[in-house]
Amino acid sequence: MGEESTRAEVDPLGGRGGRRTIRQMVVVGLIASALGIALGLVIDWFPTNGSTQADKIDTFWDVLIICSVPVFVLVTTVVLFAVRDFRMRPGQEHLDGPPIHGNTKLEVVWTAVPAVMLVALCTYAFITLHDIEKAPAAGIERQITVTGQQFTWQFTYNEGGKKFTTAQLYVPKDESVKFNIQTRDVLHDFWVPAWRMKIDAVPGIQTHYRVTPTRLGNYPVVCAELCGLGHAFMRQTAHVLSREDFDAWVKKVTAPAPSAAAGGAGGGGGSSAAVDAKALFVQGDANTGAPGCGSCHKLADAGTTGGVGPDLDTVLKGKDEAFIRQSILQPDAVIAPGFQGGIMPGNFAQLLSQGQVDALVKYLEEVAAK
Ligand code: CUA
Repeated sequence: MGEESTRAEVDPLGGRGGRRTIRQMVVVGLIASALGIALGLVIDWFPTNGSTQADKIDTFWDVLIICSVPVFVLVTTVVLFAVRDFRMRPGQEHLDGPPIHGNTKLEVVWTAVPAVMLVALCTYAFITLHDIEKAPAAGIERQITVTGQQFTWQFTYNEGGKKFTTAQLYVPKDESVKFNIQTRDVLHDFWVPAWRMKIDAVPGIQTHYRVTPTRLGNYPVVCAELCGLGHAFMRQTAHVLSREDFDAWVKKVTAPAPSAAAGGAGGGGGSSAAVDAKALFVQGDANTGAPGCGSCHKLADAGTTGGVGPDLDTVLKGKDEAFIRQSILQPDAVIAPGFQGGIMPGNFAQLLSQGQVDALVKYLEEVAAK
């Protein structure tokens, strides 16, 4: 039995040395937790906080930091002290630790404590989400339908009985908005980081969330679900305006285009003069769901800045009518250097009338010749 010593005999946690080690661990753990929490709260994790919902979510985040840092510190401290005190020393290679047959009390504690923490945090998360999602007290709520499509967002409004669709999001400050989110093709995810809220656009159903913007300015609208080659470029802008500016914007957007009034109900195949090509380029056609070219293409004349597809100010220079028409109707026939095929929708022949295509081609030809 003499040489059958085990490593238990060199266990530094036995006796007074062990108590000292535990005291050291508690002190190190408390200091590390305090520093970790302070650091976690000082770091600016999120972009500007721009909605009433964001306040609740930021508070929730802080609570999560305060609860999770000590857990991380506890585990790390125990591991580091174990490495220091129980590591194998020269000459102990053949020794074995003492046999362990479980410790019921310890196992109950380390199961129960995390379980209680998890249930408490889940309850808090549920309450936060429920508060955010329940109907606003004011009762008046604007509904905006958000439609995702590879690779752009469209926003459909119903203001004073007038329905219209735009490529950029405009909302008034301090008024609740309910977004109804849908998709024409694959999964997307509608996210405005400044508002914190985020939800998938799921084929076949509508999803919803509410936001009350509290800060004027422009904020990115991001697609947060990998949806194809153009996913990273599926970005637009949310403009939060004062009530007056918003009303003025609605008035401007819903004002009948002068050329459309002149052309009358020409319909498909009508003369291209009846189509406001620049407006079509910027906004697309809400009736058929044709996205605006400007969502993806930069064109100085139309004031668009999209970066998904080629810069039309450059690639259309000196191109003729046939090339422009082909680029709209068969986008993959010629791929601009530095870009990939399969990104631009190939169904504009179905989404646009002959008259609309003619007008777009004519407009782009004129711009390209400038
Ligand atoms: Cu749409 Cu990613």
